[in-house]
Amino acid sequence: MALRSSKAKPAARKKDSTPRSFEIEVPRNDALFRELGRNSYDLLDAVSELIDNAIAARISSKATKIVVTFFYSKTKKRNRFSIEDNCCGISRNKLGEAISPGHGSGGGTLNEHGLGMKQAVASIGNLTRLLTKADGETSASEIKKFGWSISGSEVHVQFRHGTVIEIADLHAEPPDGPERRRKFLQYLGARYRRFLLPDSKIAIWVNFESLDDDSKHSNMVEPIQPIYFNTRSRTNREEISEDIIGKNWTAHFTVGFAPEDEAHYAQLGLRKPERSNPYSLSTPNAGFDLIRKDRVIKFHFLEPYLVDTRHGQYNLLRGEIDLISGFHTAITKNAMLTDEAFEECMDKIRNIIEKRGLLSRKFNREKPPESVMRDRLVKILKGPAHQKRSVVIEAPTSVLDGHIDVLADDVPYEIKVDDAAGIDVYQLFGYMDMLDYKTGYLIANRFKPSVAGVVEHIWKKHKKKIILGTFEEFGIDGYMTDEEIKRVR
Ligand SMILES: Nc1ncnc2c1ncn2[C@@H]1O[C@H](COP(=O)(O)OP(=O)(O)O)[C@@H](O)[C@H]1O
Ligand SMILES: [Mg+2]
Repeated sequence: MALRSSKAKPAARKKDSTPRSFEIEVPRNDALFRELGRNSYDLLDAVSELIDNAIAARISSKATKIVVTFFYSKTKKRNRFSIEDNCCGISRNKLGEAISPGHGSGGGTLNEHGLGMKQAVASIGNLTRLLTKADGETSASEIKKFGWSISGSEVHVQFRHGTVIEIADLHAEPPDGPERRRKFLQYLGARYRRFLLPDSKIAIWVNFESLDDDSKHSNMVEPIQPIYFNTRSRTNREEISEDIIGKNWTAHFTVGFAPEDEAHYAQLGLRKPERSNPYSLSTPNAGFDLIRKDRVIKFHFLEPYLVDTRHGQYNLLRGEIDLISGFHTAITKNAMLTDEAFEECMDKIRNIIEKRGLLSRKFNREKPPESVMRDRLVKILKGPAHQKRSVVIEAPTSVLDGHIDVLADDVPYEIKVDDAAGIDVYQLFGYMDMLDYKTGYLIANRFKPSVAGVVEHIWKKHKKKIILGTFEEFGIDGYMTDEEIKRVR
């Protein structure tokens, strides 16, 4: 204490309050280009990043051709990969930016973080060549590695514009054998299905070429759509397809059931998909396609957001979650940032799934029994739309030794699970006649032709009004909720 100079103190303080700045150099290390490959992409995801880039760079007035080739050898070290496109290419003055990690994206629909190409290349193997030419350039630019400072060569090529990327020393085994190849092709077909429609003029080819002999398999990727079996129409239709909207985001949710057996496929006039198809029936294949900008970024999305754990009982559940706006992908585009928008969206979807009883497949595929529809009707009659005060279930009618399904403020409601016929109108009329009710409701899924005539006859002759209503109009025919299922069990 005694050593402190009371005069020096304020001066020292003043000096400290304006921080002194300094500059440092942050070294640009080429190792980054290798490290970017240590990500969660599998081969399909990595190749997809490169396909995304080509699609984003397509020239809309021209047919786009993207050719992916895997070169195989028994000497595995010789395995190679290439991807070629006839898209707009990267002009020499933009090449540095295209290689710079995290540099602003080219703005195409599927570009996002400025990392995709670098991450994909390093995850597949070692770049041996990037050859690219923009229309109007006199020569193509060729570089042989990524780095912060690289030299390239001017190369004369036959094509006017396009890009070729060649990679050696593949980290992952390329798909070999017919089953794995088919799987690779079918997942690409499912992933890019919205881009592979006939009028989109985009063709993706995948070649599998042997370096040891002349064998070559060349395949055009066909679009693959999820197949549904609608429980009511028994057609290839989803059960629900609706927009869901949150505070700052919009999405579209489609959900349905997979066909269960050969008979269902036969009804749809379709062949049962092979095991390699992303929509073949199995526990790992259940769930939703997460879609971003028209491309499936993740297949079979289910747990932990929509169910706690994957289970065989959800096998039939499938659909699409199209994340339209307000969402962000992680820097590897095979995952979404789990921000507020995403969590809110998942909550809403989980709610729809639970409320509509879509998780309990055995029961929801059957019609709800009469008891369930009657209970639902009671709720609706007591609710804000009808505001009935006295609602009695199975009201006894001693004069006829029968029961009225629901009696609400002196109006009888009869429910017919099967199609209603003229005779059912008469049964209702019987209660109305004996107990002196003026109006009654007959509620059914459909009405046979005799019904209308009987209703008219009763009105003319007895002045009793019978109103017909469908399950749909009353909103009592939806899937059973888990709670209802428990009750009927
Ligand atoms: N096949 C291609 N054709 C034309 N331009 C490409 C191609 N691949 C990459 N590019 C260019 O390189 C840039 C960087 O690509 P990438 O590392 O995948 O990041 P991002 O796609 O997020 O911008 C792209 O924005 C695009 O301008
Ligand atoms: Mg990209």
